[in-house]
Amino acid sequence: MTHASYPALRLRRTRASAWSRALHAETRLTPSDFIWPLFVTEGRQVEEPIGSLPGVSRWSVDLMVERAREAQAAGIPCLALFPNTQADRRSDDGAEALNPDNLMCRAIRAIKDAVPDIGILTDVALDPYTAHGQDGLLDEAGYVVNDATIDVLIGQSLNQAAAGADIIAPSDMMDGRVGAIREALEQEGHANVQIMAYAAKYASAFYGPFRDAVGSSGLLKGNKKTYQMDPANSEEALREVALDIAEGADSVMVKPGLPYLDIIARVKDRFEVPVFAYQVSGEYAMLEAAAAAGAGERDALVLETLLAFKRAGCSGVLTYHALHAARLLGA
Ligand code: PBG
Repeated sequence: MTHASYPALRLRRTRASAWSRALHAETRLTPSDFIWPLFVTEGRQVEEPIGSLPGVSRWSVDLMVERAREAQAAGIPCLALFPNTQADRRSDDGAEALNPDNLMCRAIRAIKDAVPDIGILTDVALDPYTAHGQDGLLDEAGYVVNDATIDVLIGQSLNQAAAGADIIAPSDMMDGRVGAIREALEQEGHANVQIMAYAAKYASAFYGPFRDAVGSSGLLKGNKKTYQMDPANSEEALREVALDIAEGADSVMVKPGLPYLDIIARVKDRFEVPVFAYQVSGEYAMLEAAAAAGAGERDALVLETLLAFKRAGCSGVLTYHALHAARLLGA
């Protein structure tokens, strides 16, 4: 009896049983991979569901503390906070970002008080505070000016750090802001406050529900293409990442997530730096819509997309599915 034609190697062999698949898995997803973005709003005992983000709500500070407890119980190491600033506190110069008693600072302090061991990441950009919805200051022509904006972003960062933020995450895409913020943090005694740079942040159509959530969508005129990146580019993303690392970023982020897995893989390949993905609001809404339409099984869709970020090289993922996914995985 001869078997001249059997395959020399059967890759199906290691897939044949659950124990063997578990043993050979190259990538694993755990609750500690997640950063959970949360929207904070004024009031007490307030939950405001966000229509374009089914299953996601804005929470008042007191209820936000409960979310932080849930996150910790589920094994999630870090929260990302975003404020829905009340309309009469938005201005052309975004000055509310510098108020030590603004909504963000109150939320940070309340969470740190109640759940001291959970990390807090804070977004640095002026869009939740400006009357025009852009991330920085405008000149007379409506152009977002770089250097004057950085002066405000430094103040915003120091304000958040003083309130207890652990990771400052500049999402504004101004040139040179990471270095300027790092220097200011050092000078003001915040040597251990990290910077996670939104290094490769694209001018994306996937941010719509987020802008609803922070109340800037109705205010925003035009787009953010003069500072956020062109989706056509990937070499430029590597240059952005190289600059942010040189300026002192502890970790870098690619955003959005799923449509930009190629960027994540290129960044991880090129640089020895922790890389995070932001699976943004439009991606979340897309998955939820697909599941609601019966196009796939929700939990499986969620876990497969999150696993893809790990496979591409991410240390972790910002995802609105964080609590659900962490509970599925078991703390
Ligand atoms: C603020 C910011 C945005 C997001 C995170 N930080 C919106 C934008 O740049 O317009 C989007 C996140 C999401 O869509 O989930 N600069």
